[in-house]
Amino acid sequence: MKKIALTGIKPTGILHIGNYFGAIKPALELVREYDARYFIADYHALNTVKDPGLLAAQIRQVAAGWIAAGLDPERVIFYRQSSIPETFELATILMAFTAKGLMNRAHAYKAAVQENAAKGDDPDAGINMGLFTYPVLMAADILLFDSDVVPVGKDQVQHVEMAQDIAQAVNFTYKETLLRVPEASVREQVAVVPGLDGRKMSKSYGNTIPLFAPEKELRKLIMRIVTNSQGVEEPKDPESSQIYLLYKLFAAPEEQRSLADRYRAGGMGWGEAKEALFQAANRELSPLRQRFEGILSDPAGLDAILARGAEKARPIAAQTVARLRKAAGISSG
Ligand code: ADP
Ligand code: TRP
Repeated sequence: MKKIALTGIKPTGILHIGNYFGAIKPALELVREYDARYFIADYHALNTVKDPGLLAAQIRQVAAGWIAAGLDPERVIFYRQSSIPETFELATILMAFTAKGLMNRAHAYKAAVQENAAKGDDPDAGINMGLFTYPVLMAADILLFDSDVVPVGKDQVQHVEMAQDIAQAVNFTYKETLLRVPEASVREQVAVVPGLDGRKMSKSYGNTIPLFAPEKELRKLIMRIVTNSQGVEEPKDPESSQIYLLYKLFAAPEEQRSLADRYRAGGMGWGEAKEALFQAANRELSPLRQRFEGILSDPAGLDAILARGAEKARPIAAQTVARLRKAAGISSG
């Protein structure tokens, strides 16, 4: 029996290259070795996206993005979280095993509280229960499908650890391995893809390179990357330049070495380094961009793919929930 890999992406904005290298690409590489279950975390997105038209569009864009990046719906069970109602039943069960204190320690919630404090606002201002209980819903996503590994970026490791804690609490209570304890899988070399300003690339910082940006926009964004004031002739350190760090993601090892040598030798300005990055990025992203446009132009086809995925996922989900209800003394009748 193959082990199970599972991950989800929230449709809270358009996909960027941080999502691609940090989450999508590593997840797609696992498909060869694992039974993969990948999904669109649309109810997680509802915590922040309250515009229905926008949410609907982003769900389709993220789904099309996965397929354009190479997800084969015949090999991967690919679905919307909202199509699996068992997720929400399991989340309710897990609530009973989740310490409130554990939620208090979640990074996203803590950051929101700190932001309020910094502004002198009420600590709970703008924080909904969806954000507070976010890790429980995510644990339900993971535990529902007996996941062994969860490919994610570094920022999600804490959430996977919380899913471990919650699974262990359930197993301990019923003295039975009802829920498989998952492990996060993080690719160290791409754990944090830097953004245009050098901070982590993130929708919330507005410093992203969208994965499907048209060629002209891609060039413009790359030319906007913030650099220091070193002149053309000065030798430069590749590893402390985010242009080079981004280039590494797109270039073959020998191309990486050759650009690194040119950095160290001096005589290459930032403009030229950016041009090399643009060429390498465009080479990898052009075919993706074309596939993406094609998939998006057939929304009914896309919906059918997701509906088939949900059909495959639900029987698995139903088994997990039935197992827990039985163990808990809540019959399915
Ligand atoms: P954002 O920070 O832009 O809101 P999400 O939180 O929606 O991105 O992340 C979706 C997935 O992409 C997660 O697995 C996350 O770890 C990964 N990811 C996001 N940004 C980066 C980044 N800059 N580097 C590596 N992985 C990232
Ligand atoms: N929290 C993840 C993110 O922000 C998205 C997500 C929801 C997820 N449920 C999941 C990731 C289950 C992995 C497994 O990126």
